[in-house]
Amino acid sequence: MQKIICKDYEAASRKAAEILMAELKKKPDMNLGLPTGSTPIGMYKTLIAEGADLSKVTTFNLDEYYPILKSNDQSYEYFMRRNLFDALPPKEMNIPNGEAADPAKECLRYDAAIEAAGGLDVQVLGIGQNGHIGFNEPGDALSVGTNHVQLTENTIDANSRFFASRDEVPTSALTLGLGGIMKAKKIIMIATGKEKAKAVAEIFSGKITTQNPATVLQLHADVTVIMDEEAAANL
Ligand code: PGA
Repeated sequence: MQKIICKDYEAASRKAAEILMAELKKKPDMNLGLPTGSTPIGMYKTLIAEGADLSKVTTFNLDEYYPILKSNDQSYEYFMRRNLFDALPPKEMNIPNGEAADPAKECLRYDAAIEAAGGLDVQVLGIGQNGHIGFNEPGDALSVGTNHVQLTENTIDANSRFFASRDEVPTSALTLGLGGIMKAKKIIMIATGKEKAKAVAEIFSGKITTQNPATVLQLHADVTVIMDEEAAANL
């Protein structure tokens, strides 16, 4: 795993955008896995400012709340349009369907769509305070394929800042599984802020635990973790 420690959030965002743009230069028609959350917003802003070319790219988002209407301003579909795709439309965007009638079927459909596209070339990730990636939460076991998960209280608390009240935060989500993430050829993780320092230290510990799903990334051959100094404080 490659570590890149940047001074602050802005520098980490710029570094992530630079690495991604270099990959886009190599493969302009890549399949690109993208995250939501506060962390990637700076990278998305930089991509927009730099006029990155996504016109040949097929995107696959990591996760989506379930159930949620696409028009809800807290849906990840809405987030992606507002923060990236309105300015830089990809050739095709894919997001797990929070409106699907049958979530189990939607999970299978999503994995099949990634497979049919030829797999992910690059997966960009954030990390939760508890080590979750996508909505793969700590627990006794981790799922391989896209799955329908109940969110932990920790994640509902963390995400309630975006909703009018905690009661409005959806309690479940559809998320790519650990297998889906690990199948990406290249993984770029961005971790910033002191709240992430403990989870980040564990992903460089040499040990894997289902209590920190991101520790599984240690088994991947091409992971770059871009941190700010606060997130890297416990390394
Ligand atoms: P954040 O979330 O970027 O809003 O901190 C990261 C995550 O939960 O994966």
